[in-house]
Amino acid sequence: MKPLDLPNRPRRLRRNAVIRGLVRETRLAPEMLVYPLFVCTGEAPRREVGSMPGVYQLSVDEAVKEARAACADGVPGVLLFGLPDAKDDAGAAACDPAGPVPSAVRALKRELPGLLVITDVCLCEYTSHGHCGLLDGETILNDATVEQLARVALSHAEAGADIVAPSDMMDGRVGRIRSTLDDAGFTDVAIMSYSAKYCSAFYGPFREAAGSAPVFGDRRSHQMDPANVEEALREVALDLEEGADIVMVKPALAYLDVIARVKAEFGVPTAAYQVSGEYAMLKAAAANGWIDEPRAMMETLTSIHRAGADIIITYYARDAARVLSGSATAGGLDGRAL
Ligand code: PBG
Repeated sequence: MKPLDLPNRPRRLRRNAVIRGLVRETRLAPEMLVYPLFVCTGEAPRREVGSMPGVYQLSVDEAVKEARAACADGVPGVLLFGLPDAKDDAGAAACDPAGPVPSAVRALKRELPGLLVITDVCLCEYTSHGHCGLLDGETILNDATVEQLARVALSHAEAGADIVAPSDMMDGRVGRIRSTLDDAGFTDVAIMSYSAKYCSAFYGPFREAAGSAPVFGDRRSHQMDPANVEEALREVALDLEEGADIVMVKPALAYLDVIARVKAEFGVPTAAYQVSGEYAMLKAAAANGWIDEPRAMMETLTSIHRAGADIIITYYARDAARVLSGSATAGGLDGRAL
């Protein structure tokens, strides 16, 4: 048969793995992955989170073990969330130097000095009402909450955190945290701000993991409306003016356009958080045999990086790092030939 007269045949560059590798535009690397850990005080054995198979609530000792294993897999950093022993209206336990996060930071810095330690700064895990701030009736008080968040960030810096990550979405918290850290001499502690954090249904499993579901109401008064993207750019601009070093978009998969806009318009280090619900969704489908989990994992992470994220926070960090280093496979393919 006479060939069609086609000047371009894109399939020429898809013929085999070597050619596909040659023209691949997006490459994930383990160095861009951050692994979230849920830390509690005491000696309890690790407890798996029902809606997040493979994710555990960890004592400080267990967190060190898990972080050591993550380092061995090639993951450079962890993001710590705390599960305090006791909660109150003001989330006082959030700045207790003996609380789970500062304790874990000290232990990790002692045992794994090369590991990057990032801490989540918010009150919702520490308040009895589960809200991200101090309340007046059912209203979250912005400025009083910001003062408390600055104290929390300082307690994490004093314990040795490399980066603090405010996830509360109060106005002005980045600037206040920056000045508090600077005044205390922590000029080198960076701020990764959850700048464009949406009010998302995909945080459900996290709230089980962290015991942080609000007892009444929701987070719409501070987290962003999923319909908005211009507003995300304004939030990022404000956080950068206030001194954020890294900005974050969260969740990731449903907000790839937001990641792309933020990266294109600001060109600053940009993180994206593949959140608990994104992870749980893949896990649940895989458990039913409906998708090939390793391939779906790598495909979603690749798309988040392709959209513009330099840093990806994901519960899959260890699994993905193993695939990328060639010590595990995804659907029979290694990290270079997905
Ligand atoms: C704390 C916080 C949340 C997440 C990260 N930091 C929960 C929330 O805002 O309700 C969600 C992370 C995830 O779902 O994996 N405010």
